[in-house]
Amino acid sequence: MRTPRLALLALLVPLACAQAPPLAGTWKGTQTFTRGTQTTTVETTYVLSASGATFSGLVFTRGDRREVVNGTVDGTHLAYGLRNPFVPESTPQPFTAELTADGLAVTAVRRPPPPGTPARAGRGPAPPLVLHRISDDTVYHLPPALAHAPLPPFRALPPNGLALTPPMGWNSWNKFHAAVNDAGVRAMADTIVSSGMRDAGYVYVNIDDTWEGTRDAQGNIQSNSKFPDMKALGDYIHSKGLKFGIYSSPGPKTCAGYEGSYLHEDQDARTWASWGVDYLKYDWCSASSVYGPEEMKQAYEKMALALRATGRPIVLSLCEYGWLDVGEWGAAAGGNLWRTTGDISDRYASMANIGFNQNGRESAAGPGHWNDPDMLEIGNGGMTDDEYRTHLSLWSLLAAPLLAGNDLSKMTPDIRAILTNRDVISVDQDKLGRQGTRVSQQGSLEVWKKPLAGGAAAVGLFNRGDQPASLTVTWSDLGLPARPRARDLWTQQDLPRAAGYTAQIPAHGVVLLRVR
Ligand code: GLA
Repeated sequence: MRTPRLALLALLVPLACAQAPPLAGTWKGTQTFTRGTQTTTVETTYVLSASGATFSGLVFTRGDRREVVNGTVDGTHLAYGLRNPFVPESTPQPFTAELTADGLAVTAVRRPPPPGTPARAGRGPAPPLVLHRISDDTVYHLPPALAHAPLPPFRALPPNGLALTPPMGWNSWNKFHAAVNDAGVRAMADTIVSSGMRDAGYVYVNIDDTWEGTRDAQGNIQSNSKFPDMKALGDYIHSKGLKFGIYSSPGPKTCAGYEGSYLHEDQDARTWASWGVDYLKYDWCSASSVYGPEEMKQAYEKMALALRATGRPIVLSLCEYGWLDVGEWGAAAGGNLWRTTGDISDRYASMANIGFNQNGRESAAGPGHWNDPDMLEIGNGGMTDDEYRTHLSLWSLLAAPLLAGNDLSKMTPDIRAILTNRDVISVDQDKLGRQGTRVSQQGSLEVWKKPLAGGAAAVGLFNRGDQPASLTVTWSDLGLPARPRARDLWTQQDLPRAAGYTAQIPAHGVVLLRVR
């Protein structure tokens, strides 16, 4: 008969000996996040290969793909980084994990916040992630419902002849997000006309994310209840002398979690053409879950070809946040414009950080194919009028698309005057289609120049500081005639003929000149 002590030992021995499973293979786990009354469960898949004391692999979660970099194994302890493979130059986020008989317990290594940082309300630590090994598979396979045939090899497409100057119009996202509907879009179309914006060049009325409903039995995409009749809405927009824009994703879901065009590209293009769509913003969002970086170009080209096959001229706007040097291939993939950055917000720091960082991308821009530093925030209330003048001046020097993002029906006369300043718009819409560049920078003062058709140039004198400042330029230093004609495009005053000019510039402000 066993003594109690022996019985305890008999119980413990198998536990202590339980082997941790091999690391290589496919692992899955879930985390449950609670925010207020909302609970979401997020599934994560790790697909790992191991070799000696190192490992590598891919991680899929929330529609994203990450690659494992610098993975090391020390006994049961793992250390590694996760990096977005579409942004290979980005810094990997550090992780550690413990391999036990129960699974792989994963922890994100967070840098402690600087002392004195207030805790963010409602955000506790992330719930633990414990992965369980579900197979030996070291290669990721899409779930059968999401599997796709290999994409045809990429081939450079000829231009579609559209967007010979940067597109101008209005888009619903920056102000309305999901609070966009048929009546609201019609109201914007009415106001674009009555405010004079259409006549100043703003012609596209673009519905962003959250219009999408479910697919019918044949797989045709339908709008949701906020948009009862897309064809009728398109007709209404066209009846005002405007053009109609829509939004989708090459992935299964859009960024707001609505139906994307994945595996329905041709069908969706035909549906949009039947609604009278003139412009598509095609937003990467969840497409990383179904395409690797080597497939991104083809995924965009697929939609470009689908749009072209409809026979309807449709501007194609690529939105993939500037990943994988999109300026190098965006036009060849059929894009008329492509985002170069993450999302803008209605704050000076966001706008300035995006806008002033566009220098160096100019060779990608030209008639039919534009860099897109994101839509305008002018009139949304988070910046001063001087800052909004900087926003429009900088975007115009950059030959950026000008898509207003405010509630046009509540626009003040000052905001309307900024958005409709035709002299500034003419810098953006100049037929030469050259993107301007930074000529000089001294502390917070910057000089930018954009060559214009007919030998003229636009010159932007920017004060990024938070105090008014004066800035002197000598025209010949800028490669301009020694005593040129120069006009201030915001005050609409001609400058005295002289060898240079000293501008008084408000904090975060600009003086924009046309010089020849
Ligand atoms: C992304 C885009 C935004 C907007 C939203 C919609 O964040 O960058 O411009 O389209 O998706 O969900």
